[in-house]
Amino acid sequence: MTDVTFILRDGTTRIVDADDGISVMQAAVLEDIKGIDGECGGCCSCATCHVYVESVGAGELPPMDDAENGLLDGAAAERQENSRLGCQIIVSPELRGLVLRIPDRQV
Ligand code: FES
Repeated sequence: MTDVTFILRDGTTRIVDADDGISVMQAAVLEDIKGIDGECGGCCSCATCHVYVESVGAGELPPMDDAENGLLDGAAAERQENSRLGCQIIVSPELRGLVLRIPDRQV
């Protein structure tokens, strides 16, 4: 289990103790984090799991592939330098302390 912090749209935070090996999108959906939809189920085709990475803790995120990069260009909320898709970030102990901010909209 690894803690992941979500900064919600109202500015409050929720810390989720997520199972290692699942994506942060899945962790958010399981914990009913509002603003992470994950409509495609994590197959990298919807961009409704867009997050802004505020801190990666002690670890490093996996590199972004072309599919994620292309989808982020079409995300509903503004793409920023720290934009990632939550379904492409797999929870692991190396990411302990990961902080993600929810965009103002996903569709
Ligand atoms: S859940 Fe659809 S792109 Fe991430």
